[in-house]
Amino acid sequence: MSDKFDVIVIGGGPGGYVCAIRAAQLGLKAACVESRGTLGGTCLNVGCIPSKSLLNLSENYHKAKKDFFDQGIEVSDIKLNVEKMMKNKEKSIKVLTKGVEFLFKKNKVTYIKGKGVIFSPSDVIVYDNGKKTSYNTKNIVIATGSNPTSLPGVEINEKNIISSTAALSLNSVPKSLVIIGGGYIGLEMGSVWKRLGSEVTVIENLPYITPGMDREISNEFQKILVKQGIKFQLNCKVHSIKDSGKNVEIEFQNNENNSKIEIIADKALIAVGRKPYTEGLNLNKLGIKKDTKGRVNVNKKFQTNIKNIYAIGDVIDGPMLAHKAEEEGIAVAEFLAGQSGHVNYNVIPGVIYTSPEVAYVGKSEEKLKKDGISYKVGKFPFLANSRAKVNNETDGFVKILADSKSDRVLGVHIIGPHCGDMIAEMALAMEFGANAEDIARTCHAHPTHTEAIKEAALAVDKRPIHF
Ligand code: NAI
Repeated sequence: MSDKFDVIVIGGGPGGYVCAIRAAQLGLKAACVESRGTLGGTCLNVGCIPSKSLLNLSENYHKAKKDFFDQGIEVSDIKLNVEKMMKNKEKSIKVLTKGVEFLFKKNKVTYIKGKGVIFSPSDVIVYDNGKKTSYNTKNIVIATGSNPTSLPGVEINEKNIISSTAALSLNSVPKSLVIIGGGYIGLEMGSVWKRLGSEVTVIENLPYITPGMDREISNEFQKILVKQGIKFQLNCKVHSIKDSGKNVEIEFQNNENNSKIEIIADKALIAVGRKPYTEGLNLNKLGIKKDTKGRVNVNKKFQTNIKNIYAIGDVIDGPMLAHKAEEEGIAVAEFLAGQSGHVNYNVIPGVIYTSPEVAYVGKSEEKLKKDGISYKVGKFPFLANSRAKVNNETDGFVKILADSKSDRVLGVHIIGPHCGDMIAEMALAMEFGANAEDIARTCHAHPTHTEAIKEAALAVDKRPIHF
């Protein structure tokens, strides 16, 4: 069978499926090829969505066990049922992945199941269960995402040496869990299993966690996680991990004093980053250029060196975030329809969904210093926010960085309750080019956590009311 499309998107993750839907909305004949069997990519199947389900469920369990009694809620016999928790998570995944299929039908996007290979700039061959079908297209979008990386000489076997995929589906609580990498995945998964009862140790190569994040926030974040019982081995490099079948033996070395340390744990989670996934797409044969990290090179319009083949999301440069990929997918669809797509890389929020959450948008203090930009800082602690206080969620603070001359907001960094949602207000403010004064003069409802944002904006001009 042969079919002619305006665009075939390879990969049905948040970048790919959003691109296909937007292209169809704009009147293009669009198809999306996906080999997983379900749509939604890493995010919906083995990433953002299942991890948020487990973060929410484990936090409920933890609160019921640790906090309820002191709050006057006396329940007895709280038991953890990991199997049921996992089923709950699976149900959420199913509803959402089926939801994307429904959106494809609604928008008349053709969903092609199977593994897509770019045979030529105008032909995609799809292999599905031994069946080979060729599709003709005017444009191709590579949206094949990323895969977990490992350490040199360490094989992820998804038994005792696991990636985030297995960490999201363990059928019992490991007594001890060692996590290599103090980034997004390590700290979210560490929080889940710590709350469910594991002894969690995070080994991080750098002297601090969450590299790239504003340092004051990441230091505070680490302190809070330590209070929650997570142990850290910072500035340590892992040399080897051996799986005995029963447990794992992790050998690492302190980068500062070279002392060697060994830990034995039930499981080791490797969370040292992800790498672009372009295997089997035929990119080398087509001559599509990649950089030294395996990312596909694209221009400002997301075109590769073959101009009707585009690439978006984790396979190109930039933060590996679902919402960044979605924006790029929309921009490509709009370019294809003759419009002018645009992604503002200065305003891409990042959130770590721990408790408390950590959220940021724009530049960190370290980046402003590096760029030689002079700035003012306004901070406000949740300890002085009435809503956080009544909810017993007073850890953390809001930090706003504004240009010292123009007062324009350059970065906002928050650690605290519900800041993953609150950061949207700051992203919007930055999109509109707001000054700290604009935020300070915006009426915020009382009593809400968002008042801490207004107060931090007031603090930029040294006039907070409640602190
Ligand atoms: P990451 O890049 O966030 O963190 C990896 C950490 O491992 C870094 O702190 C790094 O210094 C450390 N590391 C690297 N090599 C090491 C070694 N040999 N020994 C010890 N530490 C080492 O990567 P992560 O956590 O694997 O996440 C992958 C991607 O997934 C990230 O780009 C992130 O954006 C995305 N993600 C986003 C989430 C969210 O938006 N909430 C949640 C989970 C993942």
